[in-house]
Amino acid sequence: MNVPVTTSQPPEPAIRVRGLEKSYQKLRVLRGVDLDVARGSIFALLGSNGAGKTTVVKILSTLLKADAGSAHVNGFDVATQAADVRGSISLTGQFAAVDEILTGRENLVLVARLRHLKAPDSIADDLLKRFALAEAGDRRVATYSGGMRRRLDIAMSLIGNPPVVFLDEPTTGLDPEGRIEVWQAVRELAQGGTTVLLTTQYLDEAEHLADRIAILHEGRIIVHGTLDELRRILPPAEVEYVEKRPSLEDVFLTLVGASREREQL
Ligand SMILES: Nc1ncnc2c1ncn2[C@@H]1O[C@H](COP(=O)(O)OP(=O)(O)OP(=O)(O)O)[C@@H](O)[C@H]1O
Ligand SMILES: [Mg+2]
Repeated sequence: MNVPVTTSQPPEPAIRVRGLEKSYQKLRVLRGVDLDVARGSIFALLGSNGAGKTTVVKILSTLLKADAGSAHVNGFDVATQAADVRGSISLTGQFAAVDEILTGRENLVLVARLRHLKAPDSIADDLLKRFALAEAGDRRVATYSGGMRRRLDIAMSLIGNPPVVFLDEPTTGLDPEGRIEVWQAVRELAQGGTTVLLTTQYLDEAEHLADRIAILHEGRIIVHGTLDELRRILPPAEVEYVEKRPSLEDVFLTLVGASREREQL
């Protein structure tokens, strides 16, 4: 029997980032990024093109070294415990990395074999079912829709059950149906206890999917919180004939637009 351990300490976040800095030559992309992601939650990192979202994900997944600051993933330091971090995560990059010539099932079995896991066939079956690909499993990926490819890509990254999953723009280029399918898959992941950090430029994606949202702008997290907390930043909705609550888009454009205006002064 599992006896829950009671402790007065708050649980350690799955991802903890403090003062993260990164420049590419003279371009200061990250200028002191701080964030915490609770275990089993979905965290959306929002930002315009070039804000530095992929840079954050690359540092957290040990593909890139930060210039300053610290980052811990699943309790491991990305700078000094890179192998442990890699053993705790999966990364689904901005572009799908599936083999078109193979079937969906073959792609999954291949990755399970590469990871030296037992029973690759049953791992593949299980993931095909979870990602609603069971029927298409024996078809070549070349015949899949964009949404199916994305789901397969995410399924492949879950082989070995990593506790922390990074999804860099998981739904870019998908049609509304494909996006909803991916959202469903991401929700199920978090329900199963996996921590998900995703980046997106789609404000409605963050609005629908994320437990917490952070906006990366000019190298820093300028605001973070739940959707309701972010909405409260703006003055209450004016009542004319109908009451309109501010959308995340209103909050984003007000914050990002305001600082752009300051820049031009
Ligand atoms: N290897 C590199 N060398 C030089 N500059 C880079 C490099 N990688 C990224 N940059 C620059 O750093 C900035 C941040 O890039 P990054 O890819 O992190 O942004 P992003 O928020 O993921 O953007 P997008 O929404 O377009 O994916 C951009 O201005 C980009 O041109
Ligand atoms: Mg990017």
